[in-house]
Amino acid sequence: MACATCLTHGSDVATPGDKLLEVDHLCVTFATEAGAAKVLDGVNLTIRAGEIMGLVGESGCGKTTLANTILGILAGNARAEAGRVWFAGEDLFALPQRRMARDVRGRRITFIPQDPFGSFNPLFSVGAQTRELMKWKSPRRAPGEHQGLAGFFARYPRARRRADAEAIVQMLRSVQMPDPAATAGKLPHEFSGGQRQRLMIALALLPQPQLVIADEPTTALDVTIQAQILKLLKQLAKSRGISVLFTTHDLGTAYEICDRITVMYAGQEVESAPVADFFGRPQHPYTVRLLESLPRPGRELREIGGEIPRLIDPPSGCRFHPRCARASEICRKERPPATSLGGGHEVRCYHPVETPP
Ligand SMILES: Nc1ncnc2c1ncn2[C@@H]1O[C@H](COP(=O)(O)OP(=O)(O)O)[C@@H](O)[C@H]1O
Ligand code: SF4
Ligand SMILES: [Mg+2]
Repeated sequence: MACATCLTHGSDVATPGDKLLEVDHLCVTFATEAGAAKVLDGVNLTIRAGEIMGLVGESGCGKTTLANTILGILAGNARAEAGRVWFAGEDLFALPQRRMARDVRGRRITFIPQDPFGSFNPLFSVGAQTRELMKWKSPRRAPGEHQGLAGFFARYPRARRRADAEAIVQMLRSVQMPDPAATAGKLPHEFSGGQRQRLMIALALLPQPQLVIADEPTTALDVTIQAQILKLLKQLAKSRGISVLFTTHDLGTAYEICDRITVMYAGQEVESAPVADFFGRPQHPYTVRLLESLPRPGRELREIGGEIPRLIDPPSGCRFHPRCARASEICRKERPPATSLGGGHEVRCYHPVETPP
């Protein structure tokens, strides 16, 4: 499913506002003992250069699966059945594995995981792990430098090692680690959860990527620390023109840092809008219910009600129909098409909230 717009972007460099990532009708299935689970079923998502995109939805709706598909690190029982992922004009599914591993994953697309505790090797200092990353993923690494088996045994060229070391110190300052030299000498367990997540941000930004995928990056942290980390991530990404795909089940954190938000429900995107429109005039009944479930002073909380469907035999048509008070016959038959409301606001619903059912 080629995208004419993407194919015109031939180079690594995207100008602000260009489409950087396009997920086009992506379908991913997991083989399970109970049958094939359609975890992503026709997902579409666009991220522009320099944009922070929030991917929100209840736990189990497929956020991590989408992030892992883009990174090319799906579990062994998963299969991308259909669709494409375009990145800066390249079809990532058509890219040879070696190029994906060398030039894209960890270099042009980097990753901040949910768990800063399990993300470092406990036996090596932070400095050693950062240097190892830069040996392979430095933006200063020449295209032909140390390929294949020869590359494995090759030494780290001295001039580049020196330049990379300077970049590491600067980056540790940017993520507000107090004493970069002391930081580099310490083992991961010597840092708090918040500090480790700052270090994860440093590792994600050091390769000078075009896109950072942050998968629930603050969920494991205290609420007070979460806000500081999010602010830092936003500030560093914006100042460097880096796009971010930020997954979260928490709309409050998405509001803090995102330019746009896409909502997923049971493996499909249902609404996508700039953040002001998203919170100001949500159209999809599921988005409205998510917003109503947010705590606000002077208003009672409303539960979303009903259960997330099983993905082995998901509901026909609009997957939200068993939980939707506005559902009609057509909703049970066919997935609603994406309707554009202007200004980059799109919704998939036959009876959006501003229209009487
Ligand atoms: N390796 C796997 N095998 C089978 N099912 C999986 C696997 N990984 C995830 N799933 C299922 O896929 C669905 C989406 O999971 P996930 O992408 O982790 O959602 P989220 O990140 O939104 O919580 C869930 O129902 C989950 O149980
Ligand atoms: S398409 Fe129908 S069932 Fe789905 S959210 Fe809209 S009104 Fe509800
Ligand atoms: Mg997840």
